[in-house]
Amino acid sequence: PRSIWLSRHGESEFNLSGRIGGDADLSARGRAYAQKLPELIRESIGDRKITLWTSTLKRTIQTAEHLPYPKLQWKGLDELDAGVCDGLTYKEIEEKYPEDFKARDDDKYNYRYRGGESYRDVVTRLEPIIMEMERNENIMVVTHQAVIRCIYAYFMNVPQDRSPWMEIPLHTVIKLTPKAYHTEEERFFANI
Ligand code: G3H
Repeated sequence: PRSIWLSRHGESEFNLSGRIGGDADLSARGRAYAQKLPELIRESIGDRKITLWTSTLKRTIQTAEHLPYPKLQWKGLDELDAGVCDGLTYKEIEEKYPEDFKARDDDKYNYRYRGGESYRDVVTRLEPIIMEMERNENIMVVTHQAVIRCIYAYFMNVPQDRSPWMEIPLHTVIKLTPKAYHTEEERFFANI
């Protein structure tokens, strides 16, 4: 049966300094994950033909670098746009925009960053991509935490207002196999 493999990008330089957004390179640990990725999923993919989708940001492209599959970049898979908060740490956001910080905590799904996006906006922009995922055979998607939360919630039937709070670990591949009435899930941990 057809499956979808999902992974966040490897750890980036921004992850290390606690900054959100941006277009940073992978850290050394993130590059180690990229190196390990082909082996991590080799068995689960077997001889199936897959297509690899990334965002247009460096950290997802670098994560997919060593995977020997045809690749496609989607702007629609880019990380949730944090607008004026792009490049800040959560502490800096709380200091500069205390009301926004609280508003986001109260309703994370609907909160839209000034000049940026909400989770609801991301779900809307993902609609054509998810339709394309439904139409295709086997796909691996290397993207960002907020985007994976929305894709995962769609396939696993998680209520969308809960999805912004789900923890999607780094350096882990989530394999989803849609069945008639539910979706099977398997996880592969790189342990780095
Ligand atoms: O770097 C940002 C995360 O991927 C999204 O985090 O929506 O929980 O703030 P957040």
